[in-house]
Amino acid sequence: MRQTIRVSTLAVACVAAIVAVGARPGPEQTPSPLAAGATPPPWAYPVNPPGTRTPRPPDDGTRQRVPGSARAFTLTELRDLFNIADWHPDDHPPMPEVVAHGRRPDLFGCGYCHLPNGFGRPENSSVVGLSVAYIVQQMADFKNGTRRSAEPDMGPPAAMIRVAQAATDEEVRVAAEYFASIPTAPWIRVVETETVPEIVVSRGMLVPVEGGETEPIGRRIIELPEDLARTELRDAASGFVAYVPRGSTARGEAIVEGETGAVACGVCHGSGLAGVGPVPALAGRSPSYTVRQLYDLQSGVRDGLWADLMKDVVATLSLDDMIAIAAYTASLDP
Ligand code: HEC
Ligand code: HEC
Repeated sequence: MRQTIRVSTLAVACVAAIVAVGARPGPEQTPSPLAAGATPPPWAYPVNPPGTRTPRPPDDGTRQRVPGSARAFTLTELRDLFNIADWHPDDHPPMPEVVAHGRRPDLFGCGYCHLPNGFGRPENSSVVGLSVAYIVQQMADFKNGTRRSAEPDMGPPAAMIRVAQAATDEEVRVAAEYFASIPTAPWIRVVETETVPEIVVSRGMLVPVEGGETEPIGRRIIELPEDLARTELRDAASGFVAYVPRGSTARGEAIVEGETGAVACGVCHGSGLAGVGPVPALAGRSPSYTVRQLYDLQSGVRDGLWADLMKDVVATLSLDDMIAIAAYTASLDP
């Protein structure tokens, strides 16, 4: 009972703090345990190796199909950033214009990267399970340059920033209301393992090497499509599997629950880490995305209006802590 009162008081304090930070100038950068010569982990920030950009297969006009959909699209239709191919229109509310078509020349339809149902991919982000207020604030942070990526060469976050710069307040509001209205569902299967398929970055995404061997997972999370062919066709009904090091989910749980000295994350992120008001959900989301955010927050390149609330939380995390946290949060029901 006392615990409950304490937690709910803090939750209120947290939301009050969010409102308050708006007025303050940013504090000095916290010295980060990753700072000394650290480079962003390439498995979380995939970049096409120079000169190896895999050409896209040419469109021979064949109409592609995926299981469970009566629709058919050519590769050219599937690649249209301003007319998003929607395999499963009955799985989500009707897409508003900004999500389905965007606006030429710079506002790609949100549904292209985040998929029509907002479930997203490891190289971008899920945008379901988030509140309108949170989405609106993130769009503002991307637009005003306070939310950047620790890996400027990674294409998708750079594209997200250009999209946010192109979007009007009204377009942001409509997109935010759309994504916030969609119920979440499991999308990522977390598997603890010692070995993973050999991987390569292809068109900005981790994929298994064709005919490749397996190799030790080491200190990485390897998040791969459950079905590469369906993911390449941008099928929003085919999810992902995240391979994580053995023992990482239990270690992540201990950190998240505050057993290792950190503030319990649920104080702000809510019970089951499902999000509270403007504080984002963490449960069931891409662990590659989560590691990128913890790393970006710690290195200070993500420094939007509400980022101060995370500064102390991330200040002392090691990369292994981030891997453990992300493995655990991804394994929770969204
Ligand atoms: C070109 C691909 C692309 C398009 C189009 C796109 N996004 Fe994104 N979006 C991204 C990527 C990549 C990220 C994650 C950035 C990172 O990892 O730091 C992201 C992140 C976000 C986030 C942050 C989620 C969070 O939990 O903080 C929001 C909100 C968002 N996008 C909204 C939108 C909206 C609204 C639109 C349409 C107006 C849109 N995006 C269009 C690629 C895209
Ligand atoms: C004092 C409140 C507070 C606590 C405690 C807290 N967070 Fe956060 N967290 C926030 C807020 C607010 C944001 C949004 C930051 C922003 O807008 O830039 C956030 C953002 C995040 C994000 C980025 C999510 C996204 O969608 O991009 C991650 C990941 C995260 N927190 C993980 C954690 C973990 C793990 C813990 C516990 C170890 C934790 N947080 C504890 C308030 C908190």
